[in-house]
Amino acid sequence: MDAAQLHALAVDIAREAGELAKMRRSAGVALAATKSTLADIVTEADREVEELIRKRVAAARPDDGFLGEESGADAGGTGVTWVVDPIDGTVNYAYGIPSYSVSIAAVHGSTEPGQWQALAAAVCAPALGELFSAERGGGAWQDGHALRVTSEVPAGALLSTGFGYDPATHDGDLQTVRAVMPIARDLRRGGSAALDLAYVAAGRLDGYFERGLNAWDFAAGALLVEEAGGRVSRLDTQSPRPMLIAAGIEVHDRLSAILG
Ligand code: IPD
Ligand code: CA
Repeated sequence: MDAAQLHALAVDIAREAGELAKMRRSAGVALAATKSTLADIVTEADREVEELIRKRVAAARPDDGFLGEESGADAGGTGVTWVVDPIDGTVNYAYGIPSYSVSIAAVHGSTEPGQWQALAAAVCAPALGELFSAERGGGAWQDGHALRVTSEVPAGALLSTGFGYDPATHDGDLQTVRAVMPIARDLRRGGSAALDLAYVAAGRLDGYFERGLNAWDFAAGALLVEEAGGRVSRLDTQSPRPMLIAAGIEVHDRLSAILG
């Protein structure tokens, strides 16, 4: 499996998909549907961007599998699956907040989180003009600069989290926030899990935790963090809302001790 080739393709597709998302945003956002709850929306751009990514992957690697947030799963025959969130941070996108991203990962083996091996990843934030990428064993990068997670948090950790769309889960998630605040210097809620993970990789955040993510939310970002020297783990994997923790080693282990 050539991770370098997959990496180059992921970057190229993420860039093109990002440009399309940005162009559609400037033309105005049309809501296409709501999904799990009223707050969980999909725009026409989410669908169009995913279609572009699907077509580009199929043209370059017709026998690979695909798992996309909007169009579902297609098994492939090569052992490689592309795990794709066409617009991560759809609510930001709909509101005109520039923190949204295209997230693309090429994984090997099972498409079950925790059982795959991520080989290549690209997270593109077109409205911010930034692209983060990683290749298994080859490091994590942003526009030519190697990424590194933070290792020291003398003033406490700058943490980020997210909340699911189901209002019934908010109270429990706020209790989780309360439990981690003693080790935090402050808390962010950025609105795109893939970008939160890219920021941990880039040392812009010291750690990130969230319950109930889908595979496409974190497949690319988790590889960014690992290749930037950090640690990613999932707790409560038997529950409907497993907890994802990503950070430098020390903050990761402190978060796991609190949340485990
Ligand atoms: C959401 C974002 C958000 C996270 C939610 C995700 P979407 O993805 O990543 O930051 O808190 O859990 O569902 O719906 O914008 O693709
Ligand atoms: Ca998402």
